[in-house]
Amino acid sequence: MREMDLHLSLSARGYSDIVQPMITVRNLEKHYGGKSVLRDLSFSVQEGEIFGIVGRSGAGKSTLLRCFNGLTTYDGGSVQVRGREVGALSDAGLRELRRDMGMVFQDFSLMSRKNVFENVAFPLRIWDAGQSRGTIEARVMELLEIVDLADKRLERVQNLSGGQKQRIGIARALALNPKILLCDEATSALDPDTTLNILELLQDVNVRFKLTLIVVTHQREVVKRLCHRMLLLDKGAGLCLGRTEDLFLDPPEDLRRFADTEYTFIPGGLNIRVMFPRAISRQAVITDMARSLDLSFSIVGGKLERYRDHVLGFLIINVACEHVERVCSYMTDKNLPWEVLADDHDACQRPE
Ligand SMILES: Nc1ncnc2c1ncn2[C@@H]1O[C@H](COP(=O)(O)OP(=O)(O)OP(=O)(O)O)[C@@H](O)[C@H]1O
Ligand SMILES: [Mg+2]
Repeated sequence: MREMDLHLSLSARGYSDIVQPMITVRNLEKHYGGKSVLRDLSFSVQEGEIFGIVGRSGAGKSTLLRCFNGLTTYDGGSVQVRGREVGALSDAGLRELRRDMGMVFQDFSLMSRKNVFENVAFPLRIWDAGQSRGTIEARVMELLEIVDLADKRLERVQNLSGGQKQRIGIARALALNPKILLCDEATSALDPDTTLNILELLQDVNVRFKLTLIVVTHQREVVKRLCHRMLLLDKGAGLCLGRTEDLFLDPPEDLRRFADTEYTFIPGGLNIRVMFPRAISRQAVITDMARSLDLSFSIVGGKLERYRDHVLGFLIINVACEHVERVCSYMTDKNLPWEVLADDHDACQRPE
């Protein structure tokens, strides 16, 4: 498992003032029957952080979430939420824990025949029995304002769009002022525009309420847009852990497979991937280089991607052998991260 620049990530991302771990997982093990579904997982999630858990179907993402809120037991290791061992909590302790954790689901899990108001009021009525009608009404309306659905309060849920339903799911999850929001594939049933809309809302509540978000997803776009850090799970094991943009800009082999960043390289010359980190993403790096060196390059592939609030990316260029040395020393001089990609030919002397 690889942890990249944790301290840098915390100070660079605006939640440096609050760094106490919200959740700490150590050597976590979980079996179903004889089958191991979580294997020796260790990581922590900081207060105020948006933490992504990604991986293919069956990787153990939902099981891991259920270990956090005590909906499932674990067989080894430790899960602590705000310093308390989840497996050792009494029933009363578990109730308290779950109250602090809102949950948002892929299928919304709403009462479809009830109206919007009743759905959001539900946790308030269950958990805070005895509150006056006026108090509940005020809180529900406050929540519906946050998710921008106040005008739909009397509408039946079954008449709403997927995006609207998920907004209600989020309002309901926020009803009891949780410290943590667990989102299990919250946008997987939505179209791309609606997904962006919901991601913006989640980003908004993270900042507004200093809420810690754990976001389970198999969609890499979601994790790139939303998450400060991410953990890649495969068959219950943690393959890599780190700051999202660092991992995607320079993906370890396991993430590369998940991220599907494979290209067909041009034979001959050298294929070089040039990364565009935050500080230089807006400069026309390649055209500057072409102009300065008076060279042209073939572009093999590349991508500009949105990571939270800025655009980053990489470009793969094919450089003729005779220019490789000049190009590589130019990139090194300019502090551009680069790497040679294809090594299946001996056409060029590979630079160090
Ligand atoms: N209650 C259960 N009993 C037995 N096996 C289970 C149970 N719940 C999950 N599993 C198994 O544990 C493994 C992890 O399942 P989990 O639901 O956590 O995966 P996931 O990463 O959330 O997948 P998906 O992306 O499809 O939701 C799977 O092999 C699954 O079949
Ligand atoms: Mg799941």
